Amino acid sequence: MKTTLRRTADPLKTNADLLVVCVSDPKKLAGPARAVDRAFGGALSTAAASGDLEGGAGKLTVFHAGDRLRASKVAAVGVGGGGTEAYRAAGRTAAGALNGKRAALAPPPKATEAEVEALVEGLGVGAYRFQRFRTGDDARRPDLERAVVISEATTRDGLERVERTVEAVNAARDLANTPGNHLTPAVLAERAKALGAEIPGLTVKVLGRAQLERMGAGALLAVARGSAEDPAMIVLRHRPKGAAPARVLGLVGKAVTFDTGGISIKPSGGMEEMKLDMAGGAAVLEGAALLARLQVPVEFIAVIPAAENMPGGRAVKPGDVITAMNGTTIEVINTDAEGRLVLADGLAHAVREGATHVVDFATLTGAIVVALGEVYAGLFGSDDAWTEEVRAAGEASGDLAWHMPMHPDYDPLIRSRVADLANAAKKRQAGPVYAAQFLAEFTEGVPFCHVDIAGTGMVDGAGTGFGVRLIRALGEGVASER
Ligand code: BES
Ligand code: MN
Ligand code: ZN
Repeated sequence: MKTTLRRTADPLKTNADLLVVCVSDPKKLAGPARAVDRAFGGALSTAAASGDLEGGAGKLTVFHAGDRLRASKVAAVGVGGGGTEAYRAAGRTAAGALNGKRAALAPPPKATEAEVEALVEGLGVGAYRFQRFRTGDDARRPDLERAVVISEATTRDGLERVERTVEAVNAARDLANTPGNHLTPAVLAERAKALGAEIPGLTVKVLGRAQLERMGAGALLAVARGSAEDPAMIVLRHRPKGAAPARVLGLVGKAVTFDTGGISIKPSGGMEEMKLDMAGGAAVLEGAALLARLQVPVEFIAVIPAAENMPGGRAVKPGDVITAMNGTTIEVINTDAEGRLVLADGLAHAVREGATHVVDFATLTGAIVVALGEVYAGLFGSDDAWTEEVRAAGEASGDLAWHMPMHPDYDPLIRSRVADLANAAKKRQAGPVYAAQFLAEFTEGVPFCHVDIAGTGMVDGAGTGFGVRLIRALGEGVASER
């Protein structure tokens, strides 16, 4: 999606497949909504009076324009009492009415810069479709190519940041949605290298099997044992001049490119969704690249441990004891609790390489979906100030995360009879907390957060790009504290 900024233009005379106008109070149409109402002979007011046109955030009413406008259709979208979340929702629903390449957005004159940008962002992510594997013109719908933004509240620079953000979110979704046979650890590593080649100041290194063996990354290697695909640890770095030297942001993302469960195999129903088990890694990859692309002055190290979890003659078995990169021994009770294993080595690597504050994103537990659904991710933290920073970045960006507890009294759940730790608890309780406590063992005491995105990162079998916007907001926050 490319945007064009028109500070002043007549929405009625703007060419588009869809003109988007915002409604806060349907009884008092204002700005472009009022102008459209007049051009339509009062059709919007009539719809409002009958209750068909509503002002609640994200409510959508579509009018076909005939020859009254230069646009073919009008989407009147509710923005309720305003705020970025409402405008983002409005953009997202408006995209549902789009059936062409070109949109025009006419927010009300009172909308703030942040609200206008949220509307554009919502439209861009709402218009996303995954069509890579559809053949034939009938099967494909046109992608949104251009959005004309009629507003005095935003700037060209601001809109460009929105464009880059939308691209990053949608790129993370493309990676997540790509099936396991097309997205292996090696393919993910290629994407990382391509981003490194394209973005100044972003360096990318891929550690392959031989290096992982030399480093003793026994947890990541154990997960990959059953697969014919080689694992990889993808490492991105950004060291901009003028970044605050005090903090190095560590971003870690789980990238299990397919999770069968391994020997502790999953039931077959719905297993295809486990192609999305690299959504955390995709968000970290695209989110980190976005920080570098936008030249946010924050130093970061991003680590994406990637592997495929398969059963096989060489696969890790329940009861096996493995040694993680930091020397901790782990009894593998359940081979389906593989995310915490790949993250153990990813987190240890990020800390070893100098991260002072770490956050990981992972589709880690089915239980977080039961607890929080698709709205809030689960947020766990070892340090209150850092956890609050991550939570606030989520709230500001629209990637919501709810602070869940950690406590030493949960530790008995992660004890093993034979090794330092067990990767699954014998008691069926507090699964997401237990996973977070396990991960904390690999962070050497640096402020650590874990974001469980099993619910928010995948909705109805598709990737959402959750995490990309949180990472951008978090990086900007850390950068602003110089
Ligand atoms: N990738 C899954 C978690 C998951 C489940 C994500 C459903 C999205 C939707 C993870 O590797 C897993 O299998 N977790 C187990 C952990 C258990 C064995 C301790 C789970 O949640 O059942
Ligand atoms: Mn699993
Ligand atoms: Zn998994």
